[in-house]
Amino acid sequence: MSVSNEKFYVTTPIYYVNDIPHIGHVYTTVAADILAKYNRLRGRRVFFLTGVDEHGQKIERAAREKRRRPKEHADIMVDNFKNLWKRLNISNDAFIRTTDEEHKKIVQELLQKLRDAGEIEKRTYSGMYCTPCERFWTGKDIVRGNCPDCGGDVEYIEEDNYFFLMAQYQAEIIEHIKRSNYILPATRKNEVLGFLQSQPLGDLCISRPRERLSWGVPLPFDKEYITYVWFDALINYYSATKYLINSSSGRDEINWWPADYHIIGKDILTTHAVYWSAMLMALCKVEGQNFSLPKNIFAHGWWTVDGRKMSKSFGNVVDPNKIIDNYGTDALRYFLFREVPFGNDGDFSEDSLTRRINTDLANDLGNLLSRFLTMAGKYLDGTIERPASYTSTAKELATRCISEWQVVHDDSNWSQLRFSLILEHIWNMIAASNNYIARTEPWKIAKDEKGRLSDVMFDLWQALRLIALSLYPFMPDTAEKTWRQLGLKSLTGEIWNSSLSLSCPGTPAKMKPAEIFGWNWLPSYKVKVSKGEHLFNRISIEE
Ligand code: ME8
Repeated sequence: MSVSNEKFYVTTPIYYVNDIPHIGHVYTTVAADILAKYNRLRGRRVFFLTGVDEHGQKIERAAREKRRRPKEHADIMVDNFKNLWKRLNISNDAFIRTTDEEHKKIVQELLQKLRDAGEIEKRTYSGMYCTPCERFWTGKDIVRGNCPDCGGDVEYIEEDNYFFLMAQYQAEIIEHIKRSNYILPATRKNEVLGFLQSQPLGDLCISRPRERLSWGVPLPFDKEYITYVWFDALINYYSATKYLINSSSGRDEINWWPADYHIIGKDILTTHAVYWSAMLMALCKVEGQNFSLPKNIFAHGWWTVDGRKMSKSFGNVVDPNKIIDNYGTDALRYFLFREVPFGNDGDFSEDSLTRRINTDLANDLGNLLSRFLTMAGKYLDGTIERPASYTSTAKELATRCISEWQVVHDDSNWSQLRFSLILEHIWNMIAASNNYIARTEPWKIAKDEKGRLSDVMFDLWQALRLIALSLYPFMPDTAEKTWRQLGLKSLTGEIWNSSLSLSCPGTPAKMKPAEIFGWNWLPSYKVKVSKGEHLFNRISIEE
């Protein structure tokens, strides 16, 4: 691990406020949080953005059903997201709402620039329109007379509209995707390429006549039209960097655009990989490099529940608040990222969640900490010191854990977001430590080999400390509890206090990762471990 002065900007989609958040929204947001926390740990300056998408027909309709005005509805619904993110320990630096005046102003400015540069044109359009999806479809898209996305009715519409001239960017987008790791994982990259290479890309209708949709940002050059919700929404990633940066510690002096990662679900890959890329290419042409493309777009897989698509009509939509009430935040965070490789589809069930809690969390991790603390209390009165004759490199636990640690903090694993693999290797550290206890039998050597006992206990303490550090991005609360029971002050405090200086441009990095992440590290104060509450309790299957 090396310290770096780089910036790191990560985003989630902005979620529609027509409904309450579910496990799918949690998945994407926790993924972005893991990246944000990890990059802070690495000493980078991080900007983590999430928020909500408040315009468009979906919201207008949901508000009407509740007899509310759209903004009133959004104001009520937005708290469901904000409160859930607090409960989930999400460390977003900003929260964007597309109804923010500053955002709307930037959307209008960009629209005007594109219009002035001839990138937006008015045309008469005729075709099939799906109202719930707010999308036009061509004849060949329609499936048995219905919308290919939602399966609902489509209607024939003929009207004047504004078009963003997207088709001209097809070859450039293909080239960009082919050349780089822009779209991740590789399966999604191939999927977008397949789509782009098999058919001509059309231009994008970016307006809706006001009489059909009034809830949105008016086009600055024709007030009779409202901006298409996706054109408004995608710009959030850029607009937030212009007005939602906290000015403390000089963060506003950094040019945060472009984003390092847009984390999204596979459902919205086309809008990001194609529409957003084309919009940025057009803006780049007009304005220059300030609008370069994001570095990576990662489209993850889809969660089903007990083998079925999550839907209100099946009554199987998983309420994350209930899962947190019953199992806790960290158990949920862990399960989602251990159960399936990030990128693949997954199936959520309380049975599999319970299995993971009982085996991985209560048994492997929880017991390891608890046994260590009991022994340290009993044999060493809780005191952990580096033994006088200690040589860490000769120790098998050190060797094993350090080689796992290298995989856990390997740059390519993090840049490809291989979360489940990283967790597997953290669990190898846990298993190695449990085996080490079983083989060294500290309760036996406590009787007649005090010298060896302090070596063994010091090694176990180091292993647990590095396990806590590695777990931090995934299970922040568990990591913090472990850290404190190991006799250390706040984990984030220990790292952050020094890394905070990184947010002031020009200040040399003061963090000491080489030490704190190294096997031999001890703080400057005396370490006395103390057993606290269990990290995880086993859940009886009957429950
Ligand atoms: O599409 N499995 O908002 P949205 C995994 N406002 N992830 C899921 C999921 C599931 N079953 N269901 C939802 C929108 N998600 C637009 C985005 S961005 C400029 C505008 C997650 O509320 C996943 O991240 O429908 C998906 O992409 C997102 O929620 C869709 O959220």
